[in-house]
Amino acid sequence: MSAPVERGELRYEGKAKRVYATPDPQQYVVEYKDDATAFNGQKRDQILGKGSVNNAITSALYPHLERAGVPTHFIAQLSEREQLVRAVEIIPVEVVVRNVAAGSFSKRLGITEGTLLARPIVEYYYKSDVLGDPLINTDTAISMGWATDEDLSTIKALALKVNAFLTPYFLARDIRLIDFKLEFGKTHDGQIVLADEISPDTCRFWDAVSGERLDKDRFRRDLGNVEGAYQEMLARVTREQA
Ligand code: C5P
Repeated sequence: MSAPVERGELRYEGKAKRVYATPDPQQYVVEYKDDATAFNGQKRDQILGKGSVNNAITSALYPHLERAGVPTHFIAQLSEREQLVRAVEIIPVEVVVRNVAAGSFSKRLGITEGTLLARPIVEYYYKSDVLGDPLINTDTAISMGWATDEDLSTIKALALKVNAFLTPYFLARDIRLIDFKLEFGKTHDGQIVLADEISPDTCRFWDAVSGERLDKDRFRRDLGNVEGAYQEMLARVTREQA
């Protein structure tokens, strides 16, 4: 953890996080909340300790990703619920990478959950709470001015690099990385960096042995022991490797 940083005005409040300005215009403080929503905000609750678990997991993963060649917004973990990050403008295109069929992919295409995909699939969604994050393609993003062709090439390459790093990282911890969502932002000098979080809120994690769901699907599908699953994922991430 680092020294406290003075919080300025609230710049953005999402479903799971608040973003504050700091005295340095190139840096923000992100605060992780316990609030959980699913199905475009129709299901709401609190998952006790979720904010601190998601902060701890993201704070552990992002430095590894930096070393693997993925630029990120992460600077330092400040406290149990806070991170210092580089100020970025979020690109309103959510990127989902899938290794195994699950969730909306299975539903949309009628493919049984758990079906292994021949190669990772990268999908794009328009980040819009009002519209419920609809599926788009790259032509839509370019045509609407949400990202350039070049931005999207960079984003796709980085998303696949994240997947190539995280898949064996989690497998070494007996976790199958089924799919996950990433968000990217642009710094003041135009660099595209990985922003947001990587946590049980934004990934599907299945226990490699039992198949048990250790992610937000426990909340979405009323599977019970939501807090326990989040704590278990933190324990696996922070587990010493032999
Ligand atoms: O619901 P769907 O199957 O499309 O989700 C794919 C992956 O993206 C899941 O890991 C889910 O947790 C994540 N996701 C997310 N935020 C969204 C939509 C999906 O983190 N708004």
